[in-house]
Amino acid sequence: MSDAPRSRATVQIHRDAELDPQVQAVRAKDPMSIVIFGASGDLAQRKLIPALYHLHNAGYLPSTYAVVGNGRTPMSDDEYRERMLEKVQEHVADGTKPGAKHPLIAALHYVTGDTDDAKTFADLREKLEALDAERKMPGNRLFYLSVAPRFFAPILMHLKEAGLIRGKHDPVWTRVIIEKPFGHDLQSARELNDAVTDVLDEDQIYRIDHYLGKETVQNILSFRFGNSIFEPLFNNNHVANVQITVAERLGMEGKRGAYYDRSGAIRDMVQNHMFQLLCLTAMEPPSALDARSIRDEKVKVLKSLIPQTPEEVAANTVRGQYGALNGKSEKLAAYREAEGVDPNSVTESYVALKVKVDNWRWAGVPFYLRTGKCLRKRASEIAITFKRPPLNLFRKESNSDYCLLADRPKYNRLILHIQPDEGMSLSFACKQPGMRVQLEEVDMQFMYEHAFQQRSPEAYERLLLDALRGDASLFTRSDEVDYAWRYITAILDGWKQLPAPKFPNYTPYTDGPEEAQRLMNAGERWRSLESM
Ligand code: BG6
Repeated sequence: MSDAPRSRATVQIHRDAELDPQVQAVRAKDPMSIVIFGASGDLAQRKLIPALYHLHNAGYLPSTYAVVGNGRTPMSDDEYRERMLEKVQEHVADGTKPGAKHPLIAALHYVTGDTDDAKTFADLREKLEALDAERKMPGNRLFYLSVAPRFFAPILMHLKEAGLIRGKHDPVWTRVIIEKPFGHDLQSARELNDAVTDVLDEDQIYRIDHYLGKETVQNILSFRFGNSIFEPLFNNNHVANVQITVAERLGMEGKRGAYYDRSGAIRDMVQNHMFQLLCLTAMEPPSALDARSIRDEKVKVLKSLIPQTPEEVAANTVRGQYGALNGKSEKLAAYREAEGVDPNSVTESYVALKVKVDNWRWAGVPFYLRTGKCLRKRASEIAITFKRPPLNLFRKESNSDYCLLADRPKYNRLILHIQPDEGMSLSFACKQPGMRVQLEEVDMQFMYEHAFQQRSPEAYERLLLDALRGDASLFTRSDEVDYAWRYITAILDGWKQLPAPKFPNYTPYTDGPEEAQRLMNAGERWRSLESM
């Protein structure tokens, strides 16, 4: 069956979109090649190529470009195109029907080879130069390192030796996106950083944290600094505590056990994604919306996290690991039985922390962070609980006939829903209709899906486009990574000195270990995942 009409339809979308002034303002204009190392890996197939497809259709890619995949699996350009077409068809999210003649699919090329073999890079150079000559491109390149971290430094070294890296001031640009994890602890992160900055200038490095590409995460700054009513309350005069939750229902599916068991929840989620959420919630307004100003303010937050002693680590962290579930309808093998996981593993599949942001604005306000696998549901949110009013006028004792609320007043709570629900809600007390005074807690809600009838771009779409345009605002800078690891490494060191945790300590598909409650100050509770 011919797919020509379908292809024409998508090309038309691209042309129309290109003419849209909104698209014109932000599209990537420089002709370039994107090189993906790890091209047959899960991330490249499930996220990167589909993201490029959507960017193409929306008119955000330049009129001339090429995408070159590299992997060890031997493949011709055509075989690579066929395989990627299948992936795009599987993951397409804009209602279009991709065919083999789609310009993105036609722009795909492949270079087979090992990343520790200099020949691979000679082949890559030859391919890139041929594409530049054929398509009249000046040689701009975005290299995407979608490979295990041990390959980062060797790939960069080979790229340099093959003459594929241009200097920072060269008008023909070279940029490199580096996937997480950036280091395993403070020392390895510093070593990696030294290796990377030997080859590249900081301005050419794009350390990716896909949480920063999520619409709801970007909206934290818009919400805080684009409105005047909430920001004056974001400080220790008004906020009682902040709870940041990233709960996942998934466990070790997709053969993740071997990687995860060496990482654990604190390295996998807290050092990067959760600290980014913390920074955006706690930072001061940047002097401008550019990469340097935004990242300067985030670094100040991370600098305010004072590394803890082992005693403080014991008091302020709770680790968890899920056991087996043998329910009638649901069964799940324990974490320790997952493929690739050590049967005696003490790696945490859950972690909860109480974090102090030791600065003028937040002194005394606990930030509670928790994340885990195989929890009750997938739900991520930032819940800001405000202090109670100074006096409870509505207590029963003041007028027992009239006031029915015996309890203390409720807290006001602002919740930024990150995923899967995207939006925000504000809870406050309201008089229940009737002849007496009874206060009830009610909610004001904003949900993206109701307010905007358009598809939100996927995190990788936004981040790839930003890297192509040379905007590093949503990527992490070396000092951010360093300060984050400084704090996390103190926790890891503290854990080494503590008795081994008694795992397993939570049942899959619950809220995690009960023990997490001990982090809370008197009168505070974790929000139940059920209510999210
Ligand atoms: C990744 C972690 O960085 O983020 C995974 O390695 C985790 O373990 C994932 O599942 C969560 O991302 P998201 O976008 O599904 O919340």
